[in-house]
Amino acid sequence: MASRASKTLPNVMDRLKFLAEFLRSPLKVGSPIATSSRTIERLLAEVEWSNTRCFLEYGPGTGEFTRYILDHLPRDAELIVIESDTDLANHLRDTIKDKRLTVHTDSAVRARTILGNKSAGQVDYILSGIPFSSLGMLQRRQIADDASMLLRPEGKFLAYQVRRSIENHLHAHFRKVRRQRVWLNLPPYHLYVCSMPRADRPPPSRQAIADRSERKCRSLR
Ligand SMILES: C[S@@+](CC[C@H](N)C(=O)[O-])C[C@H]1O[C@@H](n2cnc3c(N)ncnc32)[C@H](O)[C@@H]1O
Repeated sequence: MASRASKTLPNVMDRLKFLAEFLRSPLKVGSPIATSSRTIERLLAEVEWSNTRCFLEYGPGTGEFTRYILDHLPRDAELIVIESDTDLANHLRDTIKDKRLTVHTDSAVRARTILGNKSAGQVDYILSGIPFSSLGMLQRRQIADDASMLLRPEGKFLAYQVRRSIENHLHAHFRKVRRQRVWLNLPPYHLYVCSMPRADRPPPSRQAIADRSERKCRSLR
């Protein structure tokens, strides 16, 4: 699906901005260059776009994944991104004009507070590029715990990581965790696809049940 965001292709300015932020905080940004388009396509091949209503992204940086998501996301869906670096978050607001996109300048550790309790069990996909090795043990666990609470039962947590520091937490919070090594990316990444969240959620509201059956109808059309 074409969107206004697709007109804003990653450019030299994005690359320079990304490199500048990496030089300023290497541990938090985690990589000197943004993810390659091949890696983006490979990880996001996991997404069933027509059924997606709510997509959450952590650590969008200069927005390489963000643009791809907006190019494929249905018109009535939403993309919420959480970026802790103020300059990068402002850069995203300035360069991607799309009413489906909401940018929060905050830490992904606060995702559940940002989205509010009514979002529990409502998110279709969470994509994370934040370097988990830069976070403490409790924060890593918090992110995996929140992800399993926020995702709907059929939802997926997707992540691209240089290290494997989040893996134990993913196994603790999802019944199915797949890992794939991608060497043709600088730096080489581990790609994670996690499904079947283990969260003990409250029973779904009537609205959530209605939304789910609407989704099912759409997928059969
Ligand atoms: C490896 S970069 C990924 C950037 C981009 N999405 C890409 O495709 O390459 C990690 C990003 O996560 C952000 N970040 C780091 N810690 C974060 C946190 N706790 N919450 C939200 N964003 C965070 C960094 O500022 C940086 O933009």
